Amino acid sequence: MSRQIIPVDPFDYIIFGGTGDLAQRKLLPALFQRDLDRQLPDECRLIGAARSQHDDASYRHFARAALEEFVPQEERETECVERFLQRLCYVVVDATAEDGWHRLKSLLDEADDGRIRAFYLAVGPALFDDIAERLESVGLIDERARLVIEKPFGRDLATAQELNRAIGQHFGEEQVFRIDHYLGKETVQNLLALRFANTLFEPLWNSAHIDHVQITVAETVGVGDRASYYDRAGALRDMIQNHLLQLLCLVAMEPPASGSADAIRDEKLKVLRSLMPISVDNADANTVRAQYNAGAGPDGKVDGYLDELGEESDTETFVALKAEIGNWRWAGVPFYMRTGKRMAMKMSEIVIQFKPIPHALFSESSGKTVANRLVLRLQPDESVKQWIMIKDPGPGGMRLKHVPLDISFADAFEERTPEAYERLLLDVIRGNQTLFMRRDEVEAAWQWIDPIYNAWSDTSQPVRKYTAGTWGPSQSVAMIERDGRTWHDGD
Ligand code: BG6
Repeated sequence: MSRQIIPVDPFDYIIFGGTGDLAQRKLLPALFQRDLDRQLPDECRLIGAARSQHDDASYRHFARAALEEFVPQEERETECVERFLQRLCYVVVDATAEDGWHRLKSLLDEADDGRIRAFYLAVGPALFDDIAERLESVGLIDERARLVIEKPFGRDLATAQELNRAIGQHFGEEQVFRIDHYLGKETVQNLLALRFANTLFEPLWNSAHIDHVQITVAETVGVGDRASYYDRAGALRDMIQNHLLQLLCLVAMEPPASGSADAIRDEKLKVLRSLMPISVDNADANTVRAQYNAGAGPDGKVDGYLDELGEESDTETFVALKAEIGNWRWAGVPFYMRTGKRMAMKMSEIVIQFKPIPHALFSESSGKTVANRLVLRLQPDESVKQWIMIKDPGPGGMRLKHVPLDISFADAFEERTPEAYERLLLDVIRGNQTLFMRRDEVEAAWQWIDPIYNAWSDTSQPVRKYTAGTWGPSQSVAMIERDGRTWHDGD
């Protein structure tokens, strides 16, 4: 099956932090992939903007090295690499001083075709306000301007509100694209297709038929050289506040009236606002926070978090939570979430566990009837598996078997699964905000997260320890087993 390529209007992408890690690992490779598929119009330009001293030639050299490192060799067609590099220019700008801003303005004004200007702030949030202010003062914010920003959007509700207010002084909300790259993942978007392009699931999608939901985002990496950022964040801020809550919203939201960005985001917002509070009264039962000790990594022995950090810290590298949604559809259905660094395997998945059959028809000799389960594997090996019971083939007797109806993306679609950023970067140009977080969503998520931090500082719940290379601390297993359930550790 060949992929449909929808052309986009001409644009200039201006990447602040154009020499940073994100540009190198994700943004340049993603834009290259889109160029490889001939989706970028001929005239479009990619402009690196940062303090480092580069000119166009040396920035192209930098970008070539990034492609060599982060795009597989078989996908780096020489002709396309050269075409892509020719699109690149570089401007030295200082976010906190006057240098470079007029040069950026005149470079952008060289294109007089009214094209979209997307300003991607691949820099720390402390610079968002400065950059927005300077863009405005040189006259670069008009109806063609789009602002793309990455988390962290604050570190609690108050700082998120402040950040949103500062940005809102310069850009209208319809111009702001807050990236949560999980929303760009193919299987995440597939959740929408699965729920709302089939009649099969929706009648069952409620507390009458679903026993519980599990969302796991497990990583094998440690914090490595991000330790100083990470230690100020921790797993609850870094992963749950955004990625896992967004996944929860897509599972739990009501069918929107239309596919428009705001119709979908309105429904997600209602879910966030329906989350039952976790506070000092119930945090011990519904949360577990932990930190990895030395143990096994993917390539052998690894240090513990505190050794990597080089000082004492209570920051959690693992969180497990039991959340409940207080509405008619979901009352009584727990949503278990867990995420951690240095876990047993890299694996992100959503498990919808259906209830057992109400009455057993087959005799005990047929074997156990296992309740249906839908497993959406986000990564690696994207797939959707619907586990059902069938009769084990063969004459004589009725033996039951639990088997998956398995759609593995790699098998079903011959082509490479695109990276989340490929989709998101061009959605900005299309002006499609569906897969981006709206201001009120970010704030509602913090509103639920803040009391958890408060509870952790008020209760006696210690930061637990787990050995690197495992599924987290025993308390996480105990949390779900108290409810008579078990974590699904991949199939
Ligand atoms: C980022 C977090 O948002 O997501 C990182 O800051 C984390 O700590 C990463 O490693 C995980 O993303 P992915 O796409 O590799 O699952």
